[in-house]
Amino acid sequence: MTPLPTPTPPAAPLPLPRLTSASAPVPRPPTAPVSPTGSGGPVPPGAPTGPDVLLPTGGTPPAAGFPQVHGLPPVGGLPPVDDLPPADELSRNENPFPPLPSVVEAVQAELYRFNRYPDPGCAQLVAALAERHSVPASHVVPGTGSAGVVQDLVAAVAGPGDEVLFAWRSYEAFPRIAWAAGASSVTVPLRAEAHDLDALADAVTERTRVVLVCNPNNPTGTVVRGPEMERFLDRVPPNVLVVVDEAYREFVRDPEVPDAVALHRARPNVAVLRTFSKAYGLAQLRVGYALAHPALAAAVRARCLPFAVSGLAQAAALASLRAERELAERIDSVVAERTRLVEGLRGAGLTVPDSQANFVWLRLGGGTAAFTDACAAAGIAVRAYPGEGVRVSVGTADANDRLLRVAADGGLLRAAAAS
Ligand SMILES: Cc1ncc(COP(=O)(O)O)c(C=O)c1O
Repeated sequence: MTPLPTPTPPAAPLPLPRLTSASAPVPRPPTAPVSPTGSGGPVPPGAPTGPDVLLPTGGTPPAAGFPQVHGLPPVGGLPPVDDLPPADELSRNENPFPPLPSVVEAVQAELYRFNRYPDPGCAQLVAALAERHSVPASHVVPGTGSAGVVQDLVAAVAGPGDEVLFAWRSYEAFPRIAWAAGASSVTVPLRAEAHDLDALADAVTERTRVVLVCNPNNPTGTVVRGPEMERFLDRVPPNVLVVVDEAYREFVRDPEVPDAVALHRARPNVAVLRTFSKAYGLAQLRVGYALAHPALAAAVRARCLPFAVSGLAQAAALASLRAERELAERIDSVVAERTRLVEGLRGAGLTVPDSQANFVWLRLGGGTAAFTDACAAAGIAVRAYPGEGVRVSVGTADANDRLLRVAADGGLLRAAAAS
């Protein structure tokens, strides 16, 4: 039998994409709208709160010939990726920096082994995360992005007849995640663009199995602070799981925002979600994790697809944990650009809530489409929530400059205000 050739890595590293955005704006068609939730339409800030039940059927009939399939989830899919260079893509809350060379190297080394399955238990990554967060390894559950983990987490505790409770608007996968578990979504409107935790606690019923708290909240960037979070957790019954989604934790600079890992250590019904997709810049590799108490963590692990987290993703996540200092500099620069963006947008006359994430929220109401189209014409993709507003991710300085130039167009803003 002929021996297999020994694979040799290429001498030169893979070329890195440039950080700067395209010199000329790339025109693009208007951004695809995000489907409505079916939750009764946009909720103006300060509107009276009250839960709103989104049934798992989500307003669509059962699939033809498959009555056991309950229609579609109440929120549709994501808009497609188009051919814009990443620096102009301000609609997905991605990291605008290219991957770190040390992380690329770790992934390259793993490339020569992708005929093999990865470690199904992600043992090295679990050990590194357990050490980092000072929790036992039995609490750490990696998955295909935090979206993959939360899907298994919710399905582990909620099913048909149960309720999954969250604020709205919040992360738009939440209704789909409840639907996938066969449970009902119950939503409580934001108040002044932020979580109304008293109303959320009031909405807990004997059918509530999970409360999802996104902190900072996507898409508004607003935060829940320590005392209100503690008060809320004190009110939630111990048999109801509270999942604090901290996908944007690394961008938080407000010292009063609680670290949900500490809440998790102190309270058996609190789980935390973190991701390598945002601050760590590994969005495409799909790796995130939950910290959950051991019985729940074991149930989530039992639900996970085998070998879900690729070896490339595990290697990149481990290398990223080792590259914290360089990553911290990048995160600081995103935070500095966030400040510049917020100040510039406010200076242009827009109302912008304080953001602790890597994006900002513009409640533009009827002006949403005009603003989105103007951004598209300037070669910038933003996330439109039709009739509600626009979420803009913090991009490169160049992309942010162009966004600010669009916002400074007084005619556009006057048209938006009039519509
Ligand atoms: C609040 C929130 N949670 C979780 C996720 C999922 O991220 P990932 O699955 O890439 O970890 C996102 C992605 O946009 C998000 O905004």
